[in-house]
Amino acid sequence: MVIVALDFENKEKALSFLKPFKEPMYVKVGMELFYSEGKEMIQEIKKMGHKIFLDLKMHDIPNTVSSCMKVLANLDVDMINLHAAGGIKMMHEALLALEEVKGKNRPLLIAVTQLTSTSQDVMNQELMIQGNLEEVVKHYALNAKKAGLDGVVCSPLEVQSIKKVCGKEFITVTPGIRPLSSNTDDQVRITTPTKAREIGCDYIVVGRPITKAPDPVKAYNDICYEFLGK
Ligand code: C5P
Repeated sequence: MVIVALDFENKEKALSFLKPFKEPMYVKVGMELFYSEGKEMIQEIKKMGHKIFLDLKMHDIPNTVSSCMKVLANLDVDMINLHAAGGIKMMHEALLALEEVKGKNRPLLIAVTQLTSTSQDVMNQELMIQGNLEEVVKHYALNAKKAGLDGVVCSPLEVQSIKKVCGKEFITVTPGIRPLSSNTDDQVRITTPTKAREIGCDYIVVGRPITKAPDPVKAYNDICYEFLGK
C-alpha cells in the first residue's frame, strides 16, 4: 500500500489537498495536523472513506501510553505507532489497551526503532547507546515483535535485515521514498517505489512527491503503479 503523508498545518489545507482524490486512499496524519485539528479531523477524513495511519510516536510510562491508546482506539484509525525505546512492557501494554477497546478490529500497532535523523555518532556519543546503528534497529524491531506488535517504521534499507530476524509477516512501513523523477528534499537514504517493492516493503509513506506535485492525483497514481506494478 502507498500511504500519503498529510503533512499540512491545518484542516483547510489537508481537505483541499484531498478533494480531487475520488478513490479511498491510505493517509498518514502526523503530530502537526493532529495537534492543530484533533479528532474532528480524523472523523472528517474517515467520512471520506480513507484509511488512516495516526503517526503520533508515543513514548511514555506504560500506564500513560496504555490510557492514551484507549483514547486513540476510539478514533477508529487503522494504524498507530509508538517508540520502541519505551521498552517491551510499554509496547505490550499499548497493544493490550487497543485489544481491550477494539478486540480483533484493533488498529495495527507499529514501532519506531531509531529515527532516521539519528546518526551512528549521535546514537553512540550523545544518546550513549552503544553498538552499530543497524544492529540497534534490528534489536528494537525484535523487541517490538516480542511485545506482540505488528511491525515497525524503518528505512527501506533496513527492511531485509528486519524481515530476516522478525519474519516475513512482520510489517515494514517505510518513508524515504522518491520516484526517479522527483526532488530528494531533505531525505538522505532514499529508494524508489519500484526498488521498495523489490526489497519487500509492505507500506511506503510518501509526502512531498505527491503533496507538492503540480498534479497530485497523477503523482499518486504514478507512484502506486510503480510500487504495486498495476
Ligand atoms: O515528504 P516525505 O515523502 O519526505 O515525507 C515522509 C513522511 O514520513 C513525513 O511525514 C516524515 O515525517 C515521515 N517520516 C520520515 N522518516 C522517518 C519517519 C517518518 O520521513 N524515519
